[in-house]
Amino acid sequence: MRVAIGSDHGGFELKEKITKHLEDRGIDFKDFGTYLNEACDYNDVSKTVAENVAQGNFARGILICGTGIGTTIQANKVKGIRAALVHDVFTAKATREHNDSNVLSMGGRIIGDELAKMIVDTWLDTAFSQAERHQRRIDKLES
Ligand code: RB5
Repeated sequence: MRVAIGSDHGGFELKEKITKHLEDRGIDFKDFGTYLNEACDYNDVSKTVAENVAQGNFARGILICGTGIGTTIQANKVKGIRAALVHDVFTAKATREHNDSNVLSMGGRIIGDELAKMIVDTWLDTAFSQAERHQRRIDKLES
């Protein structure tokens, strides 16, 4: 599975920890920045990651800003993107099973590194349930 990842300055430090974690797990990923701990707009990287996922260049996207909110809102403006803001393991699992979310968003100023890694692992490793009721609701998101 190829993963696109990006952050703004508020998520930069956590992104660095998560990319290291992806490397350790042998997961193929591309880091779309930011590459510096300097203020930047979350909009640009969120749009780039979301568009790459929507176009099928990557199976999933991971976005991190200070709260995870800006990246979630921006990513969800791209057609075909179901970005979920997640700060606990239960939600990481549920949003894959129920929403088939294709972008994970987290707040680097909210959660610790170890919890974030557990969330990433759970979210990457959980399959969509395929239940008809969940697929029907997902289809309605696009209509
Ligand atoms: C940047 O200060 C901060 O506003 C941003 O990282 C994010 O939290 C926005 O939703």
